[in-house]
Amino acid sequence: MFDPEELHEKLTRADPGYYTIDVCRDIARKLDRIAELKIERNAVLLAHNYQRPEIFEVADFTGDSLGLSLQAGEVTEADVIIFCGVHFMAETSKVVSPACKVILPNLQAGCSLADMADADDVAERIDELREQYPDLGVVCYVNTTAAVKAMCDACCTSANAVDVIRSMPNETILYLPDKNMAAYAAKRIPEKKIIPWEGYCYVHHEIEPGEIIRVKNANPGMKVLVHPECRDDVIKLADAALSTSGMIEYAKQSDFDRFLAVTECGLSDLLRIQVPNKQFFRACKICRFMKMITLDNVLDSLEKLQPEITLPEDVRVGAEKAIRRMFELTSPDLIPAALKTAV
Ligand code: 13P
Ligand code: SF4
Repeated sequence: MFDPEELHEKLTRADPGYYTIDVCRDIARKLDRIAELKIERNAVLLAHNYQRPEIFEVADFTGDSLGLSLQAGEVTEADVIIFCGVHFMAETSKVVSPACKVILPNLQAGCSLADMADADDVAERIDELREQYPDLGVVCYVNTTAAVKAMCDACCTSANAVDVIRSMPNETILYLPDKNMAAYAAKRIPEKKIIPWEGYCYVHHEIEPGEIIRVKNANPGMKVLVHPECRDDVIKLADAALSTSGMIEYAKQSDFDRFLAVTECGLSDLLRIQVPNKQFFRACKICRFMKMITLDNVLDSLEKLQPEITLPEDVRVGAEKAIRRMFELTSPDLIPAALKTAV
């Protein structure tokens, strides 16, 4: 049973204004019902680090895109994955865990970055570039549809993009869809020619260097952690550029006790909950897609086992190849069980 007082104490660390005791009573009631339904449905709940704080309370695993794909690939006992994140992430769970029913509690939770790479446009661009660069390798960020992943040689996440590109045998790489991450990788791998796709994440792209300089000047002695989807003029101000889980690990292990996490605001909420003895300042923006899933959506989706994410098998198999290649290139010991046995 969830205790409203405990929830109140914990969740007000993320947002003192919103999580009143009355709101926490309502949350506790819903969480109790979700916990019961998870058992009845033999479901696991995976949540991305940007989700609403109350969702973390009922998640079996919380992580970044890499951690979530690893985790989904290890789900062998459950019948259902309730995926609290955005559409491409739920698709990735289906790719690596095809035997499970994968449910995205709110189908409106898309990702405008993933939507910037339409599969037909990508196919056309690959053909065009292959004429010019017969040696072209295609690396796609995990923030792409499964149909786009199926056309790529390897997938990557914010945690391993540089390692994946560096390990590719090709000298010329088309990187899609995030131009900021392409620039970030190009700086670190000067020996390769990296051709960017012109996409960007509206959340990270809008963060300005001035915001960071202002917070930093007002609070000297803090560490600045930046997501690689940010622009180069913002990454230049960072002590470290990391994935969302990379930022959490950094903050936990560091001897410093004051941080600025430059990414979607949900990460600062999670840090305040998970690392209560340290201080986290904000220079962040909210992703409207990541905040779409509510506890009511989760409850409803567990009742109805809808909306389900399905994929044509040829697309699933193609995307699985790109994801498996990512693990083979960077961390062969981590290949999830389901991908090891795949044909
Ligand atoms: P992470 O894989 O670092 O959690 O990033 C996912 C994402 O969508 C960032 O905008
Ligand atoms: Fe997509 Fe950006 Fe939202 Fe991440 S933060 S889900 S990349 S729109």
